[in-house]
Amino acid sequence: MSFQRLLPVSFLVIGSAVLVLSFQSFASKHTKKTTPDAEKRQGQTHHPIGWRFTMPKGDAAKGRAVFEKFECHYCHEVRGENFPLPTENAPELSQMGGLHPVEFFAESIMNPNAVVPKNYRDAEGQSPMSDFTEKMTVRELIDVSAYIASLRPKGSPKTVAGVGKVIAVVGDKGEVVIEHGEIKGFMDAMTMGYKVSPPSLVKAVSQGDQIQFTIDTERNVITRIEKKSSPAGRK
Ligand code: HEC
Repeated sequence: MSFQRLLPVSFLVIGSAVLVLSFQSFASKHTKKTTPDAEKRQGQTHHPIGWRFTMPKGDAAKGRAVFEKFECHYCHEVRGENFPLPTENAPELSQMGGLHPVEFFAESIMNPNAVVPKNYRDAEGQSPMSDFTEKMTVRELIDVSAYIASLRPKGSPKTVAGVGKVIAVVGDKGEVVIEHGEIKGFMDAMTMGYKVSPPSLVKAVSQGDQIQFTIDTERNVITRIEKKSSPAGRK
């Protein structure tokens, strides 16, 4: 065989060898046997499905002391507490615990401008609250957020019932995201993630289901969840 006829053939051979090799390395990267947990931690370029920023457990009693140390009561009233009364206009906090996840409070303190209700904006449309990023330790932030998350309206019932629609189920965390109407005496209509206790209860519902649920207001977890109907076309 002449060299001229051999040349395209050798290109073909080298070319396919390169293809096979690169496919092998691609395949080994993507089909390697790992446990789901290990997969979550290694080699994943994206965060796991359903990932949310989560706060470590805080100490509400220490957080109360942090609240006093930074004189948050200069602006915020907390009904039922004996802090000096505020001299500025800011949300009253005694009912906050049921309203938002603890991460929301941490954000309010680190980044007050992330969410500012219209009636509190200053002339520039900003929050009048300064961020505490330079002054507070991370531990203080965790504890004061836990303190606010522990606040409940006085005399709210031990359990409340709601109806809504499942937006997402995070099975491995025992969490469900629900778009719900007003829960009388406890919470306005909103879309929010809830822990479910025991976590296996989430198995009873899927995304899109209309549901009924019961919240334990002290622990802020769902203790009963029941499907009313599924989206059309699904059993
Ligand atoms: C100068 C007054 C001022 C001080 C001091 C202040 N805040 Fe605020 N805070 C506000 C105002 C006004 C808002 C409402 C606007 C907003 O959401 O930023 C607010 C909002 C919040 C919210 C969100 C409440 C909601 O309705 O969602 C939290 C939580 C909060 N503050 C916690 C704190 C903590 C904890 C401290 C002390 C470390 C503190 N604040 C100190 C004025 C203040």
